[in-house]
Amino acid sequence: MADDIRFFELSTGAKMPSLGLGTWLSSPGLVGDAVAAAIKAGYRHIDCAPVYGNEKEIGLVLKKLFEDGVVKREELWITSKLASTDHAPEHVPDALDRTLRDLQLDYVDLYLIHWPVRKKKDSVGFGPENLIQPDIPATWRAMETLYDSCKARAIGVSNFATKKLSDLLDVARVPPAVNQVECHPSWQQAKLRSFCKSKGVHLSGYSPLGSPGTTFIKGDVLKNLILLSVAEKLGKTPAQVALRWGLQMGHSVLPKSTNEARIKENLDVFGWSIPEDLFAKFSEIEQERLVKGTFFVHDTFGPYRSVEELWDGEI
Ligand code: A2P
Repeated sequence: MADDIRFFELSTGAKMPSLGLGTWLSSPGLVGDAVAAAIKAGYRHIDCAPVYGNEKEIGLVLKKLFEDGVVKREELWITSKLASTDHAPEHVPDALDRTLRDLQLDYVDLYLIHWPVRKKKDSVGFGPENLIQPDIPATWRAMETLYDSCKARAIGVSNFATKKLSDLLDVARVPPAVNQVECHPSWQQAKLRSFCKSKGVHLSGYSPLGSPGTTFIKGDVLKNLILLSVAEKLGKTPAQVALRWGLQMGHSVLPKSTNEARIKENLDVFGWSIPEDLFAKFSEIEQERLVKGTFFVHDTFGPYRSVEELWDGEI
């Protein structure tokens, strides 16, 4: 029987369900049904963020699922994220309160700094005039206060490359429990993964399918020939194998779908495993970062003048 890998234990001692439903690019009109379908199918982890523009709709459906007795709050793992416009320490508590109001919850299980990027309060768009030099230690101290208050039961970061994470660990009173980053067979994050492991920071993978169908992300992760051949040998879909690969690598996976059949397909990654010889083949896959964050990079203005600076050279 395959090791089921249903949870990963964080440095806080909390057990985070290893597979969560992603909600980035789930339109407000579809996200409610997607969350309901996922929870009814057995998902216990939903990954949210205010910048996805759909937390209110998620809150409405969670309330209904609790009222109908489908699931209890304590059985769910809900993650949300601090927007780049709310990095100022005095704005951090309000930002979480807004998210809690929208999600209709008293606490989140995990709250992440969404990007190592700071924008002017309430600014819209990615123009250089909106960017401010981030002060991650100051923002992190405000995040630690949320952790102390128990409104965020764990805190962490997202989109931090190794150096930025290392700099934060040097000053943190409460170490980040999670770093949520792009991760899939075509962007395996070897350097960051080993650093996270050495420091007890759990790596969580977004875009675990390579975000197929997303116009501004160009990649064909699910069409990779190695992935396709492993999927064929195992009688699984490429998406299932990509997700199972992630679990066996030791990171949680957050596939997004608003399609009920695919939501169910993506949950069918337990009770079987990729055998060692086929698993080894993934190390041959050519690597390419798909989410480059170019919208935060301006060569004449702002904290990041190049994509290399944003990702500490991990590009
Ligand atoms: P849809 O929402 O119509 O199912 P990622 O999680 O890597 O960002 O990928 C999300 C994208 O992958 C969405 O466009 C989603 O479309 C699609 N997707 C989700 N599950 C599957 C699957 N099992 N097979 C193929 N595409 C999928």
